[in-house]
Amino acid sequence: MEGYIIEISNLYTSFFIDTQVIPVINDLNLRIKKGKVLGLIGESGSGKTMTALSILRLVPSPGKIISGRVCFEGKDLLSLTNREMESIRGNRIGMIFQEPMTALNPVIRVGEQISETLITHKGLSKKEVREISLELLKKVGFEDPGKRYIQYPHQLSGGQRQRVLIAIAISCNPSLLIADEPTTALDVATEAQILSLLKELIETQNMSMLFITHNLNIMKRFGDHIGIMYAGRLLEMAPVVDFFNEPLHPYSKGLIDSIFTLRPNEKRLKVIPGFVPRLSELPEGCKFHPRCNYAMDICKKDEPPMQDLGNERWIRCYLF
Ligand SMILES: Nc1ncnc2c1ncn2[C@@H]1O[C@H](COP(=O)(O)OP(=O)(O)OP(=O)(O)O)[C@@H](O)[C@H]1O
Ligand SMILES: [Mg+2]
Repeated sequence: MEGYIIEISNLYTSFFIDTQVIPVINDLNLRIKKGKVLGLIGESGSGKTMTALSILRLVPSPGKIISGRVCFEGKDLLSLTNREMESIRGNRIGMIFQEPMTALNPVIRVGEQISETLITHKGLSKKEVREISLELLKKVGFEDPGKRYIQYPHQLSGGQRQRVLIAIAISCNPSLLIADEPTTALDVATEAQILSLLKELIETQNMSMLFITHNLNIMKRFGDHIGIMYAGRLLEMAPVVDFFNEPLHPYSKGLIDSIFTLRPNEKRLKVIPGFVPRLSELPEGCKFHPRCNYAMDICKKDEPPMQDLGNERWIRCYLF
């Protein structure tokens, strides 16, 4: 665990629908170094959000974490009581989700929504909390925190609401921030501002971050490490620079080639021919083999394990 803020081992999460068991996270192994950003990339339905929700133990029913370990600050989150978990969520682990429109309560002033988290987790007085909330509004880039404090969410733009959500997420000084597509609902200029705010916060607040996105271009500038997800599996994990210099997995290569066909403001990933398979009808062997130009016989029969290649590179592919 030395040097890592979170270390996920052999995580499995499934949905139980009627008599069917649909695995959405399968043997996931993932680590984030202290002070670093891990970007999790994958097509729609690949399991990025479920990874975040599994860490937070917020997988919605009929989904369930089946097994694995999620070591965070020396504890296995999966073995904590619900109460212990509540004291970690929003406190040691901050969260920002995609929808800045729906994540705030429309009838409560933004300042009070920031204060609420601090009261819940830190047991501070109303006066102390007000000061800290104003400080936080300033920290996320509002020049007039006093005015913002008494506004309602509908009085703010999408980007401003996302700033408020970031203020809430960092209010208790979390050591890990989980951001699930925090800029997808924003225009390109606002997206750039929010990303630079997040980057500055990571550097100044001593935080680590799990950053979920569809956008490989963002990761090129933003992340330290990158993880590529496909059909509930992590197929490759690597330092960002090495990944872009030399992607190893055939799927990763396809993703990088696809960047060049992406229009500047396109947010969805455009990819290699074929479809992400339905989770209830996954092929035998490597889940990517039907779309892979390098598939060998073994790829059709046995699923490759995650291998440690050294130099912080991991891969799930028989070519290595
Ligand atoms: N409530 C649910 N019931 C059944 N299956 C679900 C449910 N929620 C999610 N899933 C399945 O879990 C899989 C992973 O979903 P997840 O939301 O993690 O994908 P994602 O990578 O975050 O996609 P996106 O990029 O669209 O946000 C999907 O295939 C989805 O069909
Ligand atoms: Mg998602």
